[in-house]
Amino acid sequence: MPKDFLSVADWSAEDLLSIADRAADLRLAHRDGKHEQTLKGRTIAMYFEKPSLRTHVTFEAGIAQLGGHAIMLRPEQVGIGTRETGPDVARSLSRWVDCLMARTFSHELVEELAEYATIPIINGLTDLLHPCQAMADFSTIAQFMEPREATLAYVGDGNNVVNSLLLLAGVLGLRLKVATPSSHRPDAKILARAEMLAEGSGAEITLGEDPVEAVRGVDFVYTDTWTSMGQEAEAETRRTIFREYQVNDGLLAYTDNARVMHCLPAHRGEEVTAAVLDGPQSVVFDQAENRLHAQNAILEHLLGSSFS
Ligand code: CP
Ligand code: NVA
Repeated sequence: MPKDFLSVADWSAEDLLSIADRAADLRLAHRDGKHEQTLKGRTIAMYFEKPSLRTHVTFEAGIAQLGGHAIMLRPEQVGIGTRETGPDVARSLSRWVDCLMARTFSHELVEELAEYATIPIINGLTDLLHPCQAMADFSTIAQFMEPREATLAYVGDGNNVVNSLLLLAGVLGLRLKVATPSSHRPDAKILARAEMLAEGSGAEITLGEDPVEAVRGVDFVYTDTWTSMGQEAEAETRRTIFREYQVNDGLLAYTDNARVMHCLPAHRGEEVTAAVLDGPQSVVFDQAENRLHAQNAILEHLLGSSFS
């Protein structure tokens, strides 16, 4: 089992499915108000270079529910690259806490922290990947149908969220149809890796530019912001580039009542209409809830708690 949770592609299908099974059990226990103290006395540090609601609250509440504790670290306090190096931060934290969850711009930074830390590092989103989100998304799909029988379409920007969905599909053998403008396709190396993984798992991955073609007959339609954190200066241009990629009633008419997914935060009137996001086909708050349970299962796996 890998030490870190940086990318779902580092993990076997067996391990990811075991995490997903545990997340489903934790969801039921949470709804009954029962929390096993599987991480009693454990401490995680959380380092955020970008804003967050879901990732921050679900990690902090999650570890507390399992009996542990979280410490919030801001870049202006820690100063990776200005006050001290990433490796020194990683080696120091390793002497005090049991795990570091990091949300950074550069994916290379989480890889560097993982290389020098002796504790597990969890990727809480980088410019390249968002693996905790992908695990929550898998749990959400599994609440409605067997994920390997589902077809998921992703429509919009070829960003960190779809990169992780591609890798998840590759590892777990899922059907994923992606539609992006040719100028904003998913990362080429990630796509190649997902396609390689698909050869072993039987995943069916298609890439195109036509949103209608992508969503025709699918079970789930997923979209994300057209302007990710750090790209704010391009927001106006991006609104033009992605105009044809909005998830709205017209697009959903090509599906048979597909469920609608979004990692949030959403921009109503841009990548998705308010009617769709707030409508009966939307499962976006199930996804948000599943962040809590998926990450608690990931924490238990990485920190070696003794659940069975
Ligand atoms: N989906 C997600 O990661 O949300 P936050 O940016 O609020 O953490
Ligand atoms: N693609 C988005 C995801 C936010 C959770 C971003 O990186 O800003």
